[in-house]
Amino acid sequence: MVAAGGTVLITACERSGGRAVAPFAPNAGAGPQALRNPLYVPPVLTPNGALLTAQTAQVDLGGGQFSSALTYNGLFPGPTFRARRNDAVSVQLQNGLADPTTIHWHGMVVPHLADGHPLQAVAAGRSYSYQFPLIQRAATNWYHPHPHMLTAKEVHLGLAGFFLVEDDEEAALGLPSGAYEIPLLLRDASLDVNGQLQYIGGSGGFTGPVMLANGTRDATLDVDTALYRFRILNGSNSRVFSLNLSSGASFTLIGVDGGLLKTPATVATITLAPAERVDVVIDFRALTPGTAVMLRSGTGTTALNLLEFKVARQVSVGGVVPPVLSTFTKLLRSAAVRTRIFTFGGSTTINGKIYDMNRIDFQVPHGQVEIWRFINAATNASVVHPVHVHGASFNVDKRTGGRGQVFAWERGWKDTVYVQAGETVEVLIRFDNYLEEYLLHCHRLEHEDRGMMQNFQVI
Ligand code: C2O
Ligand code: CU
Ligand code: CU
Repeated sequence: MVAAGGTVLITACERSGGRAVAPFAPNAGAGPQALRNPLYVPPVLTPNGALLTAQTAQVDLGGGQFSSALTYNGLFPGPTFRARRNDAVSVQLQNGLADPTTIHWHGMVVPHLADGHPLQAVAAGRSYSYQFPLIQRAATNWYHPHPHMLTAKEVHLGLAGFFLVEDDEEAALGLPSGAYEIPLLLRDASLDVNGQLQYIGGSGGFTGPVMLANGTRDATLDVDTALYRFRILNGSNSRVFSLNLSSGASFTLIGVDGGLLKTPATVATITLAPAERVDVVIDFRALTPGTAVMLRSGTGTTALNLLEFKVARQVSVGGVVPPVLSTFTKLLRSAAVRTRIFTFGGSTTINGKIYDMNRIDFQVPHGQVEIWRFINAATNASVVHPVHVHGASFNVDKRTGGRGQVFAWERGWKDTVYVQAGETVEVLIRFDNYLEEYLLHCHRLEHEDRGMMQNFQVI
């Protein structure tokens, strides 16, 4: 039912339909195995002519545990957009929230006016039209709010969704698709004593003890004995995941933020910081029906369970993972014409400055390869920065200090790179498209909101 003001109300009995309801536990960790809830998979929309209404709604976190959330169209996560390279995008945002909001298309190359920049804040009750062509390769992108100093709260309370771009190169590969291709938004959450999503914040970042997979607590997914493609996003404000499978099996890594890798890689663990994506294939073919495998973060007694796979059905269908996925030319360090240095300070500054949305911090010439050096000189290991750039993808070239290497999930095209305390990361970047104003910022959203962000102009 829809109440006045557009709030979507669904009563517990309508949705739980007589299923066993897990006992209420606001901030408890993983529940008993028997009480797992089916993974929610948001509906797919085409983005040409879509309407997104940002609104408060009651959402089922699983098993009839309802919470108020900030949603797009009453859904948590929001609808998944799916479109092809060169398609036109036209999305109307209706702001039904009490605060200003914007939509940023994370990972997507769009003109400034469609980028969700804080300068284009959409006031409560107003609407805004985002229009742009899809000029980029196939990739797992996402969308979320980006209003001045409110991004962390709006994202934590639920506003986020996937935007999948397809292209001919990817379509020719025969990767697992249809029911065997699932977008997975993994994040943490904090619930109050009434089981309602709550945002408290804090200067160092905000983490919650409850794990959600596509908005579902203690999630489970029935799988066939087949290859599955999972497009995984860390949608947390601050929490970094160390993904692995309880069976000890590896992931076949096929893509990252900006699309497919040249060749697949086999990895047992993936470090995924906020806003980073990995595209992985998991092989359930050799498992017997009844087997359960947990996708989790960390191992041992501190492991966080994210999603249980329950092998339910024996089949002999499914896609393949070819040995070559994509051909592209990476940017060359030898072609770089200059180096820019960005030092991330504490939880609020870049190069000593706090964000000012009306100040352009630097200008970047169009079409030139540059080295951007991201420095995290912190000595406290909890001070970490997932550094994100709008307007172009980059190649991670080198990491010194800290972990001292570039990992398999940092190859290919990236838009967010994780910089731990004591690390310096260099990326190669070139802006080939719009001469527009973009953002560079820390994607630990509490850092972003406190000023760890800069405007730059491509000239
Ligand atoms: Cu996902 Cu500027 O952010
Ligand atoms: Cu972005
Ligand atoms: Cu940061």
